[in-house]
Amino acid sequence: MTFDASQVYQPAEDTFLLIRSATAEVHADDVVIEIGTGSGAVAGAVQKIAPKTLAVDINPHAVAHAREVNGVTAVRSDLFSAVSGKFDLILFNAPYLPTLPEERIDDWLEYALDGGISGRDVIERFLPQAVSHLTEKGRILLLISSLTGLSETFSLCEANGCSAVVSAEEEVEDKEMLYVLKITRKP
Ligand SMILES: C[S@@+](CC[C@H](N)C(=O)[O-])C[C@H]1O[C@@H](n2cnc3c(N)ncnc32)[C@H](O)[C@@H]1O
Repeated sequence: MTFDASQVYQPAEDTFLLIRSATAEVHADDVVIEIGTGSGAVAGAVQKIAPKTLAVDINPHAVAHAREVNGVTAVRSDLFSAVSGKFDLILFNAPYLPTLPEERIDDWLEYALDGGISGRDVIERFLPQAVSHLTEKGRILLLISSLTGLSETFSLCEANGCSAVVSAEEEVEDKEMLYVLKITRKP
């Protein structure tokens, strides 16, 4: 498929923070999935360490970009809908921005940013699906922003039987913080 790069989320501070966290966390024999791969930059960096890395995105332009530009094995999927099996490491730089209905724009990039009114709509759908695709010792790295609500996201993790810690953080602009949460299932 030919793709339109202007319809694909291009690497930014959040991407680079997740790359640093994911490449520090991953083991060579891990089976890895990146949800919402966008350009494929994160999965492309991780697959150099862990060759069994798969990526998905709901945006067909992103799937084609990840394959053709970053050499990633990518499939189109709404979260885990087209995915089977379990993973040792699940990565997601989620659409985390609180977005009012009237702020929505009608293109594929909307999926990269729009977290619904709370900023957590996609994360609320993602967490139970991710937990059911996690191996016993599996871990999730989820990137969110202070705008998403850190304590509310911790509560969502708890509600899904998981513990979460902030494993990396970075200030971006106007005191907005980016956080990488490391999430594991409670024993
Ligand atoms: C903030 S962007 C991150 C892109 C890339 N991982 C990065 O770090 O640069 C979020 C990505 O998630 C994708 N996405 C949003 N909702 C999704 C869903 N329900 N299923 C799969 N991908 C989704 C978007 O299309 C977008 O590519």
